[in-house]
Amino acid sequence: MTIQQLKDEYEILGEIGSGGMATVLKARQKSLDRLVAIKQLKKSYHADAQIIKRFERESQVAASLQHENIVHIYDFWKRPNFAIVMEYVDGTDLAEILEKTGPLPVDVGIMIAIQVCNALDYAHMRGLVHRDIKPSNIMIKRNGEVKLMDFGIAHTRHMDALTMPGTLIGTPAYMSPEQILGQPLDIRSDLFSFGIVLYEMFTGVKPFTDEETRGVSAKIVKDEFLSPRRVNRDIPRALQRIIKKCLRKKPHRRFASMPDLERKLGKRLAGRTTKPASLLRIADYLVSRNVFEAAPEQETMIITGNRSGLGRRMKWAITAVSAILVASAGAAYYYRTMINHPAEPLLVLPEQSKPAPAVSAPTATTPVTAPSVTPASQATATPPPAPQAFAAPQTASSPTVVRKSRLPAAKKSTVPVKKKKPTAGSR
Ligand SMILES: Nc1ncnc2c1ncn2[C@@H]1O[C@H](COP(=O)(O)OP(=O)(O)OP(=O)(O)O)[C@@H](O)[C@H]1O
Ligand SMILES: [Mg+2]
Repeated sequence: MTIQQLKDEYEILGEIGSGGMATVLKARQKSLDRLVAIKQLKKSYHADAQIIKRFERESQVAASLQHENIVHIYDFWKRPNFAIVMEYVDGTDLAEILEKTGPLPVDVGIMIAIQVCNALDYAHMRGLVHRDIKPSNIMIKRNGEVKLMDFGIAHTRHMDALTMPGTLIGTPAYMSPEQILGQPLDIRSDLFSFGIVLYEMFTGVKPFTDEETRGVSAKIVKDEFLSPRRVNRDIPRALQRIIKKCLRKKPHRRFASMPDLERKLGKRLAGRTTKPASLLRIADYLVSRNVFEAAPEQETMIITGNRSGLGRRMKWAITAVSAILVASAGAAYYYRTMINHPAEPLLVLPEQSKPAPAVSAPTATTPVTAPSVTPASQATATPPPAPQAFAAPQTASSPTVVRKSRLPAAKKSTVPVKKKKPTAGSR
């Protein structure tokens, strides 16, 4: 792509952040009128063949994955500079959230963790090991959805290792012992790294720390860590056991797969939440801790019944009023029909020959609707259906509450610039 083509197609809105290898920009793709994130390889790496290969592969590997919890890749360019164009995630990364809020409440942490488990299981089922699981690669959208990113050093059974012998790639503080030792890796390495993320999510600190990167790696390989409950007494014992199992030095002593871990985590929430309710809980928590701004009131829209007594009373009141209106209309029509056409049969409509107008299904924007038009076929054969207040279409997965305001805030033209300070062992 030439610079002119790039300018014609993308309007750069600002810098979002910057990591070890790349700078991430927010932009608007004009032809599709959508927000995108453009991850540009830093100039200093343009001559490094290995980094370029890794960057190109990040786009190829991630582009082959289609999962709701994995960031979507749209494009890759080599010119004017190396860049990956991807879905813009309207939210913030877990590293920043933990920095701002400290340890997460148990339920919120588990709800986030389960989404990461789903994304990783999807990748693992395709023979991919992520190898760089860490909080800054886990983004949380304003609506509570989790997006896993940066498959840059992901490794498949079918690809040659990018790493030169003796070269470590990954982020030291989150590496598994086998990764540090340069041994063969499988999905259980991601389980260990995710164990470190879980530890950090619920305690607010990392299990292995040292001034020096080398010291962190040595501790991961040899040392024990402080039990999570000794850092945070609010952590339930069962959750502590789960975290400890992820962090076993020997891969065969960890969980065997992401679904195994997810099942254990999910037990704490079993039967107590649904997916939409979980997303809402995550989003509300992040608003309550000022990670995100509160949704403007007028953009909040309730589309189905409310569980409170007030909601139920309101529903009954609306049902009753609707029933009275339908009954009055029926009586008025009957009265008019009998007065004007006393000899006509009762249930024949005056415009019977015209096709019956369709009943419009209730939509999200018309939450409280009694059918406004009764089809002639029903009117002649059966009594009019009872008004269905709060009858928004429902499926097992449909939300009970939809917040429009959680949709991407596409109007913002500037974004805060986030530069990360590299700390020992954090990259
Ligand atoms: N698609 C995206 N949408 C919105 N923000 C993003 C997107 N991709 C990255 N970011 C933001 O940009 C920051 C920098 O990302 P980047 O992947 O370059 O660095 P990193 O993850 O911090 O470090 P590393 O280079 O080790 O991956 C991320 O932490 C995230 O906050
Ligand atoms: Mg990253």
